Amino acid sequence: MDSTIQDTPINKKHFGEDFTWGVSTAAVQIEGAHDADGKGESIWDVFTAKKGKILNGHHHRTATDFYNRYQDDIDLIKQLNIPNFRFSISWARILPDGTGAVNQAGIDYYNRIIDYCLQQGIQPWLTLYHWDLPHALELQGGWTNRAVVDWFTEYVKICANAFGDRVKHWMVMNEPAVFTGAGYFFGIHAPGKTGIKNFMPAIHHAVLSITAGARVLRGALPDAEIGTTFSCSYIEPYSDNPKDVAAAVRVDALLNRLFIEPILGLGYPAELAVLKGMEKYILPGDEDNLKFEFDFIGIQNYTREIVKYSFFTPYIHASLVKAQKRKVPVTTMGWEVYPASIYHMLKKYDKYPQIKKIYLTESGAAFPDEIINGEVNDPKRVEYLQNYLQQVLKAKNEGCKVSGYFIWTLTDNFEWAEGYKPRFGIIYVDFETQQRTIKASGLWYANLLR
Ligand code: BGC
Repeated sequence: MDSTIQDTPINKKHFGEDFTWGVSTAAVQIEGAHDADGKGESIWDVFTAKKGKILNGHHHRTATDFYNRYQDDIDLIKQLNIPNFRFSISWARILPDGTGAVNQAGIDYYNRIIDYCLQQGIQPWLTLYHWDLPHALELQGGWTNRAVVDWFTEYVKICANAFGDRVKHWMVMNEPAVFTGAGYFFGIHAPGKTGIKNFMPAIHHAVLSITAGARVLRGALPDAEIGTTFSCSYIEPYSDNPKDVAAAVRVDALLNRLFIEPILGLGYPAELAVLKGMEKYILPGDEDNLKFEFDFIGIQNYTREIVKYSFFTPYIHASLVKAQKRKVPVTTMGWEVYPASIYHMLKKYDKYPQIKKIYLTESGAAFPDEIINGEVNDPKRVEYLQNYLQQVLKAKNEGCKVSGYFIWTLTDNFEWAEGYKPRFGIIYVDFETQQRTIKASGLWYANLLR
């Protein structure tokens, strides 16, 4: 199999010796084994079992069977010369009821992964929360219940204690804007709650939990590198009409500033009038607790959004002009392919003096890949990755504090509400047989990292 792309215009050397290269995954999307070895139910176990929630009725109960195949998949990471592997811990494997009794089999499982990575010379990067709250906690209100901060703190302590002797890189949470927005406002992700009444407390409790979790890690593991990750999209107004421009400012505040600014000590963005509804959840002393000095911020960028004023959209009075309507190139997700987006986001976050270091903890694209004669040729993904990396390099050369890049994702996997349709992997998975085939993009990455 030699579809190695020879003339890659970007070279690892241009990014410098210290630049961190990796690949990212998340527990729900790959592990399967949803009830194995004492694991408790998560909100995704319950959500995917409901009718009509996931495209084509797909579920994650087997996913890519990483639970049983982790050695083979880590061998593939090694074969692709990828030195850093980001994965998440499933809270309900460690604490089946969310709090209380610890499931040793869950800890043993993650220890096996960590140890195997280290034996192969691969650094494990742990995300503590990638959206799979234990269902037992959701029954008590989940992220809308302020007690979640204590539940989360207890869980983080257990993980720090169990894995902290070997894991040096930690991310407290993955994309709080997505799990609160999709899960507690739009109801299109687990737990399927809707409305501003759920969204407001979920936002505030997520921020409090991120910083509470970070403080636990800092106390327990003073030498660890501690970060947390945020989704971001480059926002532009549809026109220079002041109404569109103001709408774009609001959407930017919602998508790109809402979570990061309180954590940096800047409070919630004043542009979002809707946040007035949050005041009742903010208790005395919270302002200080919202802050934490992270060693790094992980940003995850896929696309840009074009924003228009919309009288009829409640709260935000703005709407997105879909990429399909604009007739621009899109991925399977319908997201515009727009490489400069990642450059603009790096420049945006670079301006905050409180941010010490930025890693791109996710970047990638879904395209309709096919296996032909045992090979998967995915030139669009190779082009996407090259062009996005080109933009990262441009920002870096301009002095931006970007220190690493992780591709989303290792293998095709369970893409949440979209099921298995979008294929994001640099390794193809036949979901019937679980057979893996390295795509041309995987070979391209291996070549870059050689
Ligand atoms: C998430 C991943 C997801 C990816 C593509 C990110 O929002 O962290 O879990 O699969 O984007 O949608």
